[in-house]
Amino acid sequence: MNKLVVGNWKMNPQTIKEAEELVQHIEKKLTEGEISTDVVICPPFVFLAKFAHLKNIKLGAQNLSWAQEGPLTGEISATELKQLGVQYVILGHSERRMNLGETDSVVNAKLIEAMKRNLTPILCLGGEPGAIEKEMKIVVAKQFVRCTKGLTKDDLKKIVFAYEPIWAISTMKKSKPASSEHARDQIEHIYQILARHMPEHEARGIRVIYGGTVNQDNVNKYAKHPVIQGALVGAASLDPDNFWEIISEFDRESIHKS
Ligand code: PGA
Repeated sequence: MNKLVVGNWKMNPQTIKEAEELVQHIEKKLTEGEISTDVVICPPFVFLAKFAHLKNIKLGAQNLSWAQEGPLTGEISATELKQLGVQYVILGHSERRMNLGETDSVVNAKLIEAMKRNLTPILCLGGEPGAIEKEMKIVVAKQFVRCTKGLTKDDLKKIVFAYEPIWAISTMKKSKPASSEHARDQIEHIYQILARHMPEHEARGIRVIYGGTVNQDNVNKYAKHPVIQGALVGAASLDPDNFWEIISEFDRESIHKS
């Protein structure tokens, strides 16, 4: 299974020109280097159409509506996203939980809609506002149950899970990246939860990645744990050299360990 590195651009950059420069820079690096790691970028909705036909980069959205269509001012449907070549969608991000009041049941409805329309959800677990480090196993287990309610074992196999403890997101006050041991243990915990729904070897075929202040200076400590299948990267994904180092490090480690 290839490693996966996802860039979550959030509400950045402010102009199409900057967005294009960023993508060109990453595309160039990916063309020059021989990389087996899968790379996804999730730009703001307004830039997606510009990047519908990239060669080496897959496209993700940062959100979608739980509804198929209809009177939902400001929302975007899965079908609309798919037309733009979008294959992935980030769901359950802590910033949406914290700033927009998104609940587990809303995330669940969006997840079901994404599955119906064949979009691959990147389901963030660990983003509960106020949660602290020692509670994370409980937070993750609870969010997993509520967010995946009604999904079948085959549905679960199509999800990318991202362990993203809220206190590790770089833009949070007093944020600190998770220790690599903490990230490893939590990801192992997610695999154990998955193994309650399917045979262990099938669960191991699902990608579980880590997110929270991953950058070129600390990526090595996460990438060296084979159980960490990749990273969801915010701030560092806006700097193409930094993002490239993260991709290369996961790639080097997967070649090394294979
Ligand atoms: P960060 O963001 O890498 O800036 O911490 C990660 C995320 O919010 O997905």
